[in-house]
Amino acid sequence: QDSDISAQVARDLAGMTLEQKVAQMIQGEIKYVTPDHVRKYGLGSVLNGGGSFPDDDKYASVAEWVALADEYYDASVDRSQGSAGIPIIWGTDAVHGHNNVIGATLFPHNVALGAVRDPELIGRIGTATAREVRATAIDWMFAPTIAVATDLRWGRAYESFSSDPDLVESYAGAYVSSVQAEGVIATAKHYIGDGGTLRGTDQGNTRMPLDALLSRHGKGYVTAIAADVKTVMASFNSWNGDKIHGNRELLTDVLRGQLGFEGFVVSDWNGIGQVAGCEDDRCAKAINAGIDMIMVPEDWESMLHTTVAQVEAGEISLSRIDEAVSRILKVKYEMGLMSRGKPSLGAAEPEGVIGAPEHRALAREAVRRSLVLLKNNNGLLPLNPAGTYAIFGEGADNIGMQSGGWTITWQGTGNTNEDFPGATSIQSGIEEAVAAAGGKVVAAASENEQLDAAIVVFGEQPYAETQGDIDSLAWQQRNKRDLKLIEQLADRGISVVSIFLTGRPLWVNAELNASDAFVVAWLPGSEGAGVA
Ligand code: GLC
Repeated sequence: QDSDISAQVARDLAGMTLEQKVAQMIQGEIKYVTPDHVRKYGLGSVLNGGGSFPDDDKYASVAEWVALADEYYDASVDRSQGSAGIPIIWGTDAVHGHNNVIGATLFPHNVALGAVRDPELIGRIGTATAREVRATAIDWMFAPTIAVATDLRWGRAYESFSSDPDLVESYAGAYVSSVQAEGVIATAKHYIGDGGTLRGTDQGNTRMPLDALLSRHGKGYVTAIAADVKTVMASFNSWNGDKIHGNRELLTDVLRGQLGFEGFVVSDWNGIGQVAGCEDDRCAKAINAGIDMIMVPEDWESMLHTTVAQVEAGEISLSRIDEAVSRILKVKYEMGLMSRGKPSLGAAEPEGVIGAPEHRALAREAVRRSLVLLKNNNGLLPLNPAGTYAIFGEGADNIGMQSGGWTITWQGTGNTNEDFPGATSIQSGIEEAVAAAGGKVVAAASENEQLDAAIVVFGEQPYAETQGDIDSLAWQQRNKRDLKLIEQLADRGISVVSIFLTGRPLWVNAELNASDAFVVAWLPGSEGAGVA
């Protein structure tokens, strides 16, 4: 079958013009690429970035996602304007579930999943996530992130399963296998050393010899490639001062020669623009280094013309273009996307899949198993649900805060509980469990109630990428308002259970010391009831 595919790819290639070939290497963002553009230029792929939706409508329905995917597909196979008629593929960031779509199941972020230490669970989550992505007729997930977060001041620490390379190694292949078994293309990212930058600076410089880079940050790629991962995304960071997007040693010699990767490499968002001497719409160096598909969200048309000119000028060899296009076509054939027809054909009963009860139950299981108990004086936990409690803190009834970044919007901000139909907050989960047992949850303000415990839910506000970089791991260094709340309750003689929402381990000694029990809930996502 492989030989059939390579023969078919060779035949396709022989019939393609240089413009058609370069077009296959271009991925534009849906805000800047219309189906008419696809019909005219024959782009190989589109993506929606974080916080980008059909018609730029945050509340786009599943049917609207599906309709747009079909529109792009129909345009891509229409040769009437001179394209090669090759089916387009749509990539999306399913960071913790299909997080751009209203009503999707939001799984705990990767840092929480790492705390569970169970590759089998990861496989089930990959399956469920891929099914929800397929339900919107999208073929490609830019996941899993297999970063090994080292300096936790990094704003993407929560996207990393662990600082332990062996745990990341055990998760990477499991996730890739389960996603691709659903017919969705997976992406091992960000290659390589995204979690190893100096001071945890996002897109910063990772400084170490190659053998250390591979042993510390490369183990996930070994199992992802063994699981036949179809794509790898190049990383923004530099390696010993050189931007990886232009580094041939890593993108070709190591990734292909040493690690044996056979799929295609996609660049990150305007990542080629950071390569010395390059722009967002031109970078022969990146293509020659081994980038096969360029994520050029906005300047895709200029990129197309520039790159064709660079080939004609001899800055990029035609054989390099043929190699890149062959890899892209090979993946499209291997995933059945060349013969599948409309993407909606794969989106079986979409309304029943997004936020499906069994997916939410799986997410709730993950939440429960991800909780880390740091302190439990006098066996205060588990609480007796028949007791009387009050719940405090800005994280108590805040589904956006408990979900973190990459949640509907890119930064995970600007959402309200109403944006999460079917989801439960930590507070609503506790209220449900207590009511079921005949207990009581009283308003936080009531002073005179005799409480069996106070529950305080506090922690980080949502953030994504560079916006999450911090200078210090000390929690609320300047304004210890959470500590004050805990101490006020403790001073009233009330036992305090602290629940900490965070994308990374932080320095919370004072809050720990002031609490009778302390649980790290990480970023649990839509199923806050898993905490109860
Ligand atoms: C972002 C991230 C990358 C994501 C891509 C598309 O900047 O670095 O992880 O897949 O752009 O949203």
